[in-house]
Amino acid sequence: MTASPHSDPEPVVRFDNVGMRYGRGPEILRDLSFDLPRGSFQFLTGPSGAGKTSLLKLIYLAAKPSRGLISFFGRDAATLPRGELPDLRRSIGVVFQEFRLLNHLSVFDNVALPLRVTGRKRSDYAEDVAELLAWVGLGDKMTALPPTLSGGEQQRVAIARAVVGQPEILIADEPTGNVDAEMGMRLLRLFVELNKLGTTIVIATHDLQLVRMIDAPVMTLSNGHLHIRPPRSERQRHAEAREADGREALDSVAQAGRPAGNRVSADEGEDGDD
Ligand SMILES: Nc1ncnc2c1ncn2[C@@H]1O[C@H](COP(=O)(O)OP(=O)(O)OP(=O)(O)O)[C@@H](O)[C@H]1O
Ligand SMILES: [Mg+2]
Repeated sequence: MTASPHSDPEPVVRFDNVGMRYGRGPEILRDLSFDLPRGSFQFLTGPSGAGKTSLLKLIYLAAKPSRGLISFFGRDAATLPRGELPDLRRSIGVVFQEFRLLNHLSVFDNVALPLRVTGRKRSDYAEDVAELLAWVGLGDKMTALPPTLSGGEQQRVAIARAVVGQPEILIADEPTGNVDAEMGMRLLRLFVELNKLGTTIVIATHDLQLVRMIDAPVMTLSNGHLHIRPPRSERQRHAEAREADGREALDSVAQAGRPAGNRVSADEGEDGDD
């Protein structure tokens, strides 16, 4: 099962009984245990204040757990040599809930930044950046400064910046919160394409319409605890397997020569609408 307790021998990210609190405050995340398997795609939902951003911060190494273990590619994050952290951080693309664009840099330069820091030449990536910006509908805003853009436009710059380097992991915190439904679908397609190239993706969202578009597990935070609902296709497979098991059990009961009345009531149960 995707995003489930410990299903993958070496997941991209593993949480083991993780708890988190801010300072001396109450524990806002409790006993979180799950895997993000390589190349998986999952949504993260939960009411405002449930801890979605906090959980994402743990994944993109902007916060530390107050207990439990978080590992990346099979290695305990708490004992990773300091020298390895910058590389690990660079392998994670983040769309921040509040965008965090650099206001003195153009839209183009904001998006190109993750490529520039890896030492790539402008002539190598200029076309890719322009193409990506056109895809998110900002082809005519490449030289604009972020403060002159609308919230939805800034959000699309933040998304382009997070995906441009094809990161190992993409964390997106409410990435469609400021755009219309049609643009939301377009951005979701971008994430799906990135996922097809191998990126492991977690999208925090309140947008249930978005969630319904993809057959992916849904991680839900509530009262500090995490519940993981498997993808629709997996739930259907389980339901079919249960039904088949039920039928087998009924057959064996019938063969054992139990009174017919029992069988009838069991059949009624199976057809019932519960
Ligand atoms: N820096 C902080 N210091 C202290 N408490 C914090 C801090 N950041 C968040 N919290 C608290 O942690 C809890 C979870 O906040 P978080 O931002 O993770 O929720 P969220 O699910 O992302 O909410 P939203 O849907 O509104 O973005 C809240 O009760 C919040 O007040
Ligand atoms: Mg949040």
